[in-house]
Amino acid sequence: MASTTYHEASELLSEKSKDLHRAIVSLMEELEAIDWYQQRAEATQDLALRAVLEHNRDEETEHAMMVLEWLRRASPVFDAHIRTYLLKEGSITRLESAEKGRAGGAVTGPSNHEPLAAGGPDGSLGLGSLQAIAFESSTGNLSSTSNLENT
Ligand SMILES: [Fe+2]
Repeated sequence: MASTTYHEASELLSEKSKDLHRAIVSLMEELEAIDWYQQRAEATQDLALRAVLEHNRDEETEHAMMVLEWLRRASPVFDAHIRTYLLKEGSITRLESAEKGRAGGAVTGPSNHEPLAAGGPDGSLGLGSLQAIAFESSTGNLSSTSNLENT
């Protein structure tokens, strides 16, 4: 059965966009399930049922992370932001300003839909390297002219 959550006619969407949609919807479903299991586990007074629900919640968390990893591999933009924000310590919001600083202060990133600037003065690729990433809407191919493997 085709997805019922497309926001455009499916014949206008590339296979790449359809796969991204599948992964994003799957991630949403896994996160929703985590929330549901969390609430049910907390609400029940039956300790055996709570243990089962907590187990299931944690399994959904594993599923969510597997889908997120697929998204990272499929999307250079996910990859860059995951490398910036995940598995770091300290202030989360300071990571963004630190990243902007490395890129010369001109980087805005896709979160506010402005063009991404070139890489930082220190030669780091950082978010600025995403300038080279082009989305070819006609084919739906995500392509990159920079080597993000070096980040
Ligand atoms: Fe799941």
